[in-house]
Amino acid sequence: MRALIVYHSDYGNTERMAQAVAAGIGARAPEADIALQRADDTKPDDLVAADVILFGTPVHMGGPAWQLKRLIDACGKLWMEGALEGKVGGAFATGGGFGGAGGGAELTLAMLHSHFLEQGMIVVGFPKTAMGYADGGLQWGPYARTGNHEGMPEGVSDPQLTAARSWGAHVIEVAGKLLEH
Ligand SMILES: Cc1cc2nc3c(=O)[nH]c(=O)nc-3n(C[C@H](O)[C@H](O)[C@H](O)COP(=O)(O)O)c2cc1C
Repeated sequence: MRALIVYHSDYGNTERMAQAVAAGIGARAPEADIALQRADDTKPDDLVAADVILFGTPVHMGGPAWQLKRLIDACGKLWMEGALEGKVGGAFATGGGFGGAGGGAELTLAMLHSHFLEQGMIVVGFPKTAMGYADGGLQWGPYARTGNHEGMPEGVSDPQLTAARSWGAHVIEVAGKLLEH
């Protein structure tokens, strides 16, 4: 099984989450082929070659970073061909979250889910009983709030990274069950 994690990150927060997701996949499915790459370096054909496609983004002005959206919009031909149908998808995000846990994180994750569903993919969320959920989980996927109460950057915490690892393990386990049959 090939898992492709595609992310954008300006300051390293989402990249750390992406690495934790990859570690979780590797821990649960050592036989999996795991690729971690930036959205800027990703071509639509890379998605076709994967069984599991995970997108990670910082929240930018209430939505996904344009670097990821550019890749998504480049996948129109794949939509025409149905080339991604039946693949497993999932999303994770980081955001400053000024004023609470919000800042657009849930919408951002739901937007990424919408793109997966548009392609006929199967979306995996994050169950609340999974390890780490309370510290870095939303039902949509792992989310790390990286800003403090003053709106200043604080970075991704270890419990949030634990949630990201836990989710990676969950996604690959679900994908294994779905794609076996
Ligand atoms: C252009 C820009 C827009 C942003 N907009 C939001 C936002 O709408 N909501 C939010 O919670 N955080 C917002 N942030 C904060 C980032 O999402 C946050 O710092 C994130 O953890 C950065 O991730 P990175 O280190 O992977 O780039 C914004 C940051 C930038 C640079």
